[in-house]
Amino acid sequence: MNATQRAQAVRPERAERRPPAGDAGRPGASGERVSPDSQPDLAKLLNVDEMEAVAKAKLPIGSYAYVASGAGAEVTMRANRTAFGRWVFRPRVLVNVKDRDLSTTVLGTKVSMPVLIAPYALQCLLDPEGEVATARAAGAAGTVMALSMGSTRTIEDVGAAATGPLWFQPYLFDDLGIVRDAVARAEAARYASICLTCDSPALGYREAQTRWPHQLPEGVGWANMPLEGGRPRWLSGASWTWETLDAVRRTTKLPIVLKGILTAEDAALAVEHGAAAIVVSNHGGRQLDGSIASLDALPEIVDAVGGRMEVLLDGGIRRGTDVLTALALGARAVLIGRAAAWGLAVAGQAGVERVLELLRDELSTSMAIVGARSLADVTREHVARTAA
Ligand SMILES: Cc1cc2nc3c(=O)[nH]c(=O)nc-3n(C[C@H](O)[C@H](O)[C@H](O)COP(=O)(O)O)c2cc1C
Repeated sequence: MNATQRAQAVRPERAERRPPAGDAGRPGASGERVSPDSQPDLAKLLNVDEMEAVAKAKLPIGSYAYVASGAGAEVTMRANRTAFGRWVFRPRVLVNVKDRDLSTTVLGTKVSMPVLIAPYALQCLLDPEGEVATARAAGAAGTVMALSMGSTRTIEDVGAAATGPLWFQPYLFDDLGIVRDAVARAEAARYASICLTCDSPALGYREAQTRWPHQLPEGVGWANMPLEGGRPRWLSGASWTWETLDAVRRTTKLPIVLKGILTAEDAALAVEHGAAAIVVSNHGGRQLDGSIASLDALPEIVDAVGGRMEVLLDGGIRRGTDVLTALALGARAVLIGRAAAWGLAVAGQAGVERVLELLRDELSTSMAIVGARSLADVTREHVARTAA
């Protein structure tokens, strides 16, 4: 079955997860009404925003708000998107772009395209298969999926189901034993690297999630978190320092990716402390409202790193042209959070595959027109900053 056929297959589990009455039948892509149980024709969804519109119509309001919202007044979340609008392309013509190659390597792992799936929690809110469906989609597309420790499927289940490379993202518990155990489980399940998200010494101030709390479906829970009274023993990692990172790094053979770097100073420290890569990220605008947009932070970080480790970016990627802009500014690859989530909500594995396909197609076309045959051909000369 291809992605579209899988999306059209009947999925009875959906019936019990309707949005509240007031939310059913909201306008979807192109303004048509979308029934929460209908399976849209994925081939007709031509971009991530259309995918989100269908997801919004299908999901309970709490699940939608969990994914869509950011911290505070959501200024940073919006800034992640608008930052892309400040860059324009400088296409070069009469370049042979007949056979384009979108593949690259990330930490030595070959990927078919420079788009990876960011770690994000509670995927069974969006689809009964949750993280397993996302892992299969990433594998089918030939790219990496990062699994959040806040997942609704176990490290081992996702490891067994995956057909491509996985990263594991542990939360930073003050009790290092919890982190070490989780990392050891990921190592045993053959994950390729450890992605430490270091931007969350406290959980962001998220009003929408308080206003519209999400509810996990019956039988679904936190699969990897230490629980206290049925609730996750919440992370803080508020006591973590660069030395804590050193201590964790010594306990694993796997390369460490540091996610949540926004300054040249911290990028330089990440190199010093042996990170193999960083993700320039503000957590999709979910942590500190008013933080710099990821794309705005990228150029100074790339300059500070000077090729000493790989620099990736996430935040606001919705189009193939966004990927191209990030690559031109020096990112080796990007990660998608919400874009993958909308695909998962619309049609499970097939929906995530469709999102990756859309990004791949638009990136490939855009590379041709900008005059780049491979990712190595994409340079800063391909973009210019506008006055706005
Ligand atoms: C619903 C949701 C849950 C998330 N959960 C986590 C998480 O558990 N760990 C983590 O490191 N980042 C988490 N993130 C942040 C993503 O990894 C990523 O940084 C962000 O989504 C990128 O921005 P984008 O959504 O605009 O692509 C989450 C993001 C979303 C949308």
